[in-house]
Formats: sequence, C-alpha cells, structure tokens
Amino acid sequence: MKLKVFKCLFTLIIFYLIASPISSNNSIKIVTDRDYPPFTYIDEKGKLVGISVEFWNMWSEKTGIKVELIPEEWIKAQNMLFEGKVSAIDEIFKTPEREKYLVFSKPVFKVTSSIYYHKSISKINSPKDITPFIVGVKRGDALIDFLLLQNPYVNFRFYRNYSDIILSAKNGEIKVFIMDDPPASYYLTKHDMIYDFFKGPIIYTNYLHVASLKNKANIISVINDGLSKIPQEDIEKLLEKYSFGKEVPPYFPKVILYIVIVGFFILLLALSYNRILSLKVREATKELKIAHDNLKEQIDKFEFFIRNISDISDVNLKDYDFAKRVLRISILLLDKDTYGIFFDRNMDSLRILAIDRYDKNLEGLLISKEDGDNILNIQNITLIKEPSFLKDINMKEMLLYPIKWQERIYGYLACVIPKESTYSFEEREAEILERFGNIISAFYGIRVHIREREVYLSKMVTLLVKTLEYYDKYTQGHSERVAKYAVKVAEKLDLPPEKIKKIYWASLLHDIGKIYVPQSILNKNGRLTQEEFEIIKIHPIKSEEILKQVDEFKDLAEIVRHHHERWDGLGYPDGLSAYEIPLESRIIAMSDAFDAMTSERPYKRAMTLEEAILEIEKNKGKQFDPQIAEIMIKIIKEEIIEKNY
Ligand SMILES: [Fe+2]
Ligand SMILES: [Fe+2]
Repeated sequence: MKLKVFKCLFTLIIFYLIASPISSNNSIKIVTDRDYPPFTYIDEKGKLVGISVEFWNMWSEKTGIKVELIPEEWIKAQNMLFEGKVSAIDEIFKTPEREKYLVFSKPVFKVTSSIYYHKSISKINSPKDITPFIVGVKRGDALIDFLLLQNPYVNFRFYRNYSDIILSAKNGEIKVFIMDDPPASYYLTKHDMIYDFFKGPIIYTNYLHVASLKNKANIISVINDGLSKIPQEDIEKLLEKYSFGKEVPPYFPKVILYIVIVGFFILLLALSYNRILSLKVREATKELKIAHDNLKEQIDKFEFFIRNISDISDVNLKDYDFAKRVLRISILLLDKDTYGIFFDRNMDSLRILAIDRYDKNLEGLLISKEDGDNILNIQNITLIKEPSFLKDINMKEMLLYPIKWQERIYGYLACVIPKESTYSFEEREAEILERFGNIISAFYGIRVHIREREVYLSKMVTLLVKTLEYYDKYTQGHSERVAKYAVKVAEKLDLPPEKIKKIYWASLLHDIGKIYVPQSILNKNGRLTQEEFEIIKIHPIKSEEILKQVDEFKDLAEIVRHHHERWDGLGYPDGLSAYEIPLESRIIAMSDAFDAMTSERPYKRAMTLEEAILEIEKNKGKQFDPQIAEIMIKIIKEEIIEKNY
C-alpha cells in the first residue's frame, strides 16, 4: 500500500514537472536570438539589451513570473528548444512548416523583411531580379522559405548571424542580402552603409511570436495571459524608444541623388544670394528714400524760392510786401533757427519796415539815432556777434546786409539768431546771404529806377496838362478830376494795377489834342456852331497823334482816341459801339461826361450830384456803358454821403 502511494506521488511529481510550464522557483526559460537588433542584441558591455528584453520585464511585472532570457545564435537557439533545454523561443515567425511541431503565441511585434542590394547594381524590382546574385541570408531564417516561394532559383550564401552578413556586404563579398527590416536598419546605420545599400521589394510581412514545442503548449497560454495584460500603448512606447537611425532609402539612382544634392546646394545658394540681395535692396531702398526725401525738400525749397523771387520781381509790389517776401526767402536759404528784419533807410533815419518769424510785431518801429548809427556805418555784409545795440530785441548773432544801388544804401536785410538758440552763423551762411542780397539790391535798383521814371513822366504830363489849361481856360482841373473818377471806377472793377495806371495817365492826357483847336473856339462864350463843333471833334485824333510821338505814352494813344465814342455807336471819331470801344476809353468817357455835367460853362450852370445821377441813369445804355454807369452812380452816391457828413 505504502509503495502504491509512493508510486502515485512520484508519478504526480514527474507529471507536474513535465506538464507545468513554470519551474519550481517560479520562472521560465526563454531562448532568443542574440543578434536580432533592436529586439535583442549584445551591447558593448556584453549585456543583452533591446526591445524584447524590456518587453519581458514588463511581462514579468504583470504576471509575477520571472523570465530567464537566454541569448543564443539563431540556429543554436532553435536547437535548444528542440532539445527541451528551454520552455519557449522568442522572436520567431509563424510558418506552415514550423506549425507542424510548434505552438505559437499571439503576435507580439509586426516586422517586414526585404531584399537589400548594393548601389552599384541595377535596380531590383522583384525577387526574380536577384537570380544572378549571391544572396546573403541567416541560417535557419524563415525568410528563406518565403523567398524560395517567389523565386526558386536563388543562390544563397548562409551566415551564422546578421552581423556576419553585414560585414560580408561591407567587404564587397555579396551585393544582395535578405534581412528583417529592423536589424537591417540597425546594422546599416551602425556600419555607416545607409547610402551604400538600397532597400528593395518587401519579401514578407509577419509578426514575431513566442513559440514552444507542442508538448509544452500550456506555457503559450501562460504567455498569452501575460501578453493580454500589457497595454498596446506600452508596446508602442517601447518601439518608439528603440526607433533609431535612418530608414534605409529605396532605390535612388546615383546621378539623380547627385542632381538632387547639387540642386539643393544651388537652391541654398540662390536663397542665400536672394536673401543678401533683398537685404541690400532694402538698404538701398532706405537710402534712396532718404535721398528722395532730401531731394523733395530741396525741390520744395527751390519752388518756394522761384515763386517768391518771381513775386519780388513784380515792380508793382508794395515796399512792405517786397520786404516780407525777401525776409522769408532769406530765412529759408539760411536754413537755421533764425528770424529776419528788414530796415528801411530814409536819409539818416532807420525804421523796421518788416519783421518775420519774431514773436513781437515791431513793424514801423523807428530805430533810435544811437542804435541807428551802429547800423548805418555798415557798408558790406557783416556778422555781428552779441550785438551791443538794439537791446530790446532778442539777438545772439546778426548777419547784416546793406541793400545798395549805385553807391546808395536803401535799407538793410538782417538775419538774426535769438539768444536761446544753440546755432551760430558760419562763413557759408554769410556767403549765401551776400549772394542773395546782391540779387535783392538789383531788384531794388529796378524799383528805384521805375519810381524815378514815373516821377519824371508825371512831371512831364503835369507840364503838358498845365500848358493845355493855360490854353483852354475851361479845362482847368478837368483832366485831374477825370483821372480821379476814372481811377475810382477802375478800382471798383478790380482792374490790375498796371491797367489802373494806364487809365490814370490816359485820363490826364485825354484832351491834349485840344492844343490844335483854335483858342477862339475853345474859349468861346456861348454855344458852338456846327462847324466849330466839327473842329472840336478832331481833338481825340490829335491827342492820339501827340501821344504816339512819345515812347512812354504809345500805349495810351488808342485809349484817348476813343474817349468820345458812345455805347450806342453815335459818338466820334470812329462811331464804335459797346465792346468795340476799349474798356479804358469807356471809363474815361463816363468820367469825362460826369465832369462836364458838374462843371459850369458860359452857356449852362453846373448840375448837382443828384441831377448828374438822373442824367447818367437817363443815358445808361445810350451814351454810357450800362455797367460803368452803375458804378459811376455808386461812386457819386458815396460822395454825396461823404459830403453830408
Ligand atoms: Fe474830350
Ligand atoms: Fe475832356
């Protein structure tokens, strides 16, 4: 009985030892390829490392069962399994052949396998293309069967492990090999051969499994249990951690590669050049803009200068406006923080005619004799630092230019820097002001000359008019009165100063031709006969003839010829009507008739202003230009109001 019980126990223990996948110390032995990077491989310190090593650690943690991972050459690893030295083998592909005697776990890692070929041979598109070559392969690799299915004529050379295949390829002994892609990438990168070999067609896509002999099938279910406890994302992370190196590139003809590389460098060069160029262009644009702005400023100044210069060349410009413009240009030309003073000299007295850009209006101020003497001594452009005169005016420095014409000084142009300014005048500014001053002096000379000429003409005209008045007693004061009213009308019509001047002179001289009319007719007491009147009627023609003789009066000739024309065409000497009659003549005709109305004659009394208005009203549009008649009436009415006050 005791023996029976012992036999039973012994059988049970034996059965347990055979049937149980796990050893008594709660661990399992699994053999693995020692040369299957990045899943399992021996590092420089001789330690087994890789994805599978970490994977089995995770598995152990989940199951509480230790895994003894034994690295071995692939052929030897398979032998160890068959000899029962280990419970399972890792990293093994499932093939129909192997399924005959092995049980496989669930798939663990997906792996593809490809043909690799040297860049010196032509492109390999399919497994059929490798027939002429010796193909390196690891002994016992499942890939052999798969490749033979696709090309039965492959000429293999067998190696103990992947490292040997790679070294053989490196030494040029083989041009083609087949390998799982992860170790291929690992080794080609490690040996710096990534650009020497291309990755050809994929032979096979499979999963790494764990497998055991059929009689140890239960260990697979233990492994599967553990596997199902490891989350997929942990496996992903693990794969990511070991993702390394570069993918072996697919076939890429060398020449194209060179073209791409050269192209890339050309592009890089072009981009850099473009960048440099655009920087330069940007810089140049900036400089150009500054230059443009400067130029624009200069052009604006120049325009201002030209406009003002042409303004000051107008001899009709009043002295004050002339001075003001001169100051403005001077300030602009000196381009400093200055203000300007224009001193007007009359004999030995000085006065401020105009001041510009100064905060007080000192225009019209008479300069004291003491201060004036300082200025009057100056004959040429002079820079006066901290002037001791004109103490009431804020001055740090003064550039003073005497405006001179034919040795006579007419005034002084001064540009002044105020006390608070940090600027100072330099040689250059003195030169500029002197040159500009010379131009101004010339303009001033012209103004003086014209003024003197006008005085001379005026004297001559007065002489002529006085002669006429001596000759014709009724015309006494007539010409001046006609001139006075004609100018008033012209001003009301807003005529330009030049035209008003012409009307003035023409009015004074309009009857000068009467000098040709016998005195007996001119001074006759009583009404003129028709004959006498015909003689009188020649006087406008005679006036014209006289004025034509003198250059200065030539342009007045036509005006005086028509001063007896009527708006309705019934006048003399040419019977012109309406706008055929020069405007100046129509104005003088109106003014002349008004003076005749309001003057006493031996045969008639003088009309009152009111009567004259009625008379003009009556003849508006007949004798007189209606518009001018209206203006004349307005002027007379203003005179009536003036008289009454
Ligand atoms: Fe007349
Ligand atoms: Fe007259």
